[in-house]
Amino acid sequence: MAKPPLIEAFERAGQGHVFAFFEQLTPADQQQLLSDAAEIDLGEIAHLTQTLLAKGAVTGLNLDGLAPAPYELRPEKGGDVKAWGAAKTAGEVALRAGRVAAFTVAGGQGTRLGYDGPKGTFPVTPIKQKTLFQVFAEKIRAAGARYGKPLHWFIMTSNANHAATEAFFIEHAFFGLEKARVHFFRQGRMPAVDLDGKILLETKGTLAMSPDGHGGSLRALDRSGALDLMDKEGIDILSYFQVDNPLVRGIDPAFIGWHVLRGSEMSSKMVAKAYAGEKVGHFCTQNGQAVVIEYSDLPKSYQEEIDPVMGGLRYLAGSIAIHVFDTKFIRRMAKGGAGVALPFHRADKKIPTIDAAGNVVKPDKPNGVKFEMFVFDALPFAKNPVIIETRREDDFSPVKNAEGLDSPVTCRDDQLRQFTRWLKAGGAVVPTDATGLPPFAVEVSPLFGYDEDSFADAWKRLSPKPEIKAGLYLAV
Ligand code: UTP
Repeated sequence: MAKPPLIEAFERAGQGHVFAFFEQLTPADQQQLLSDAAEIDLGEIAHLTQTLLAKGAVTGLNLDGLAPAPYELRPEKGGDVKAWGAAKTAGEVALRAGRVAAFTVAGGQGTRLGYDGPKGTFPVTPIKQKTLFQVFAEKIRAAGARYGKPLHWFIMTSNANHAATEAFFIEHAFFGLEKARVHFFRQGRMPAVDLDGKILLETKGTLAMSPDGHGGSLRALDRSGALDLMDKEGIDILSYFQVDNPLVRGIDPAFIGWHVLRGSEMSSKMVAKAYAGEKVGHFCTQNGQAVVIEYSDLPKSYQEEIDPVMGGLRYLAGSIAIHVFDTKFIRRMAKGGAGVALPFHRADKKIPTIDAAGNVVKPDKPNGVKFEMFVFDALPFAKNPVIIETRREDDFSPVKNAEGLDSPVTCRDDQLRQFTRWLKAGGAVVPTDATGLPPFAVEVSPLFGYDEDSFADAWKRLSPKPEIKAGLYLAV
């Protein structure tokens, strides 16, 4: 039988070893391997090997001309109260007009949490143990009701968790959302390579493939037809957030309004870094463009630099992975061409594989490289980017690790503090410690109130007011 052209192409690219065990596979496994291999852009792998792996490849970033990015201060911190008010109104108008959709990236592997299943199915709320997906679904439902326009919700999955994610939504009847407005699509994959750029096999018949990073969302939105659907529905504003952060105000009128009024193609929220070495990206400018520099790429001297005029950290603006995108911008980024492309980053990892003789190898130190794109790398390509300040406690408490920092415990406590703040703002008396944490669990359903404003409205209407005590659950 003639050799499939794909195998010949791999051989020409120096990747013929991928098919070393081909003859030993069943016809079905052969087909599967060919189909996985067909996903790989061999030119891209050769280019990444040259630029990111070759000896002498320039790794560290060029930091010439780097400066902190300007951002819109919160009103309480001296920001322009009128401009914030106008932004909120503009955002509400966009929401009422149905121009906005929600977008959750949920294709990550969640290795640090070590939870078996899609991360969105992880239970997070203090009393009802609602899952991350349920929290977002209810927030989106409530926002749709508030603005009189049900929202579309796009969810990016990976090959590994797509079926389980869809099944979870079906099992839970889409948490009351209209099924036709919830859209799942898979992100792309990249093969892992060894330190010489050779594609790694996971088994004799499968490649070591992994998701291509949250930056892969831009091309996946295009490839999946999601952008076409948005065009059809009159949606041109996409509100982006991560699956691990239940505190996020995924539908935030002021944020959307800043984006609209400034004619921004990509807008971002920042929080003041909690301490100099906090592991977040830093909003900066370079050559007149906004950029996010990862903490791992920013030398300690920059991270700790003190602003000579204002005092405090000079590089203060931390990225919390909350953005608003113009859909035309996403399409432009996805199509690429002429220097318009997200770069890939290299991550050295321990990758289970097989050796040339077909023996299983379980490495105890990094033996290969995964390639990932980061969504914030789109920022320098965007026209009129806006960065606005938000309070960490209003928007950010991710579940990343099983224990310690950014874990289920810290996230639960931050939710309790948020519910308590809302209650106190409404005049309720709630005992708390110095950090604002109550001594017992209370919970607010997003359907009752999903942000400060919606809670305040619902609380005002509530009569009689319930007794504030352990186990209080406010719902509609
Ligand atoms: P993280 O950087 O926290 O990665 O993703 P992760 O894969 O979820 O977790 P670890 O590092 O293995 O522990 C941040 C967000 O980006 C999404 C994740 O689902 C999460 O919402 N993401 C990440 C993707 O959608 N695709 C990817 O390829 C990577």
